[in-house]
Amino acid sequence: MSIQRSRLRAAGLALAFCATAAVAAGRPAVPPLPAFDPAQQRGHDFAMRRCSGCHTVGLDDGGAQEGPAFRKLSMRYNALSLERRFKEVSRHGVDRMPPIAITHAEAEDLVAYFDTLHSN
Ligand code: HEC
Repeated sequence: MSIQRSRLRAAGLALAFCATAAVAAGRPAVPPLPAFDPAQQRGHDFAMRRCSGCHTVGLDDGGAQEGPAFRKLSMRYNALSLERRFKEVSRHGVDRMPPIAITHAEAEDLVAYFDTLHSN
């Protein structure tokens, strides 16, 4: 009986330790990006390559501020309207943004990536 109790106590201690470790680690000022699936990763890489010169691509505010942060666009558009918007800006640009070639596949990857921006 005492063995069982000490096992329980050990389990409780382990749980308490996990909780304490999580609190001690604290929340970083900039939340880490979630793990990406392959399409999201491609979208992210494409955005870093082609868009990050003017847009903040991730969740922080540290990137370029020329155009609206992608985090904000991800809240303004749903997947369908986002893909349509990518097509429009790709073809015609928008105001100060020059037209930038975005293929259909790249637009889909971008949409997948944008989906990660409002999941936390
Ligand atoms: C040369 C700078 C520049 C680059 C590079 C750039 N953008 Fe932009 N983008 C802008 C600016 C500036 C605006 C805001 C235009 C305005 O409203 O004045 C904008 C606006 C947009 C909008 C429209 C926002 C809305 O409110 O509808 C989308 C979508 C967009 N950019 C996507 C992209 C994507 C995707 C890439 C990368 C493939 C990209 N941009 C690369 C400068 C840039």
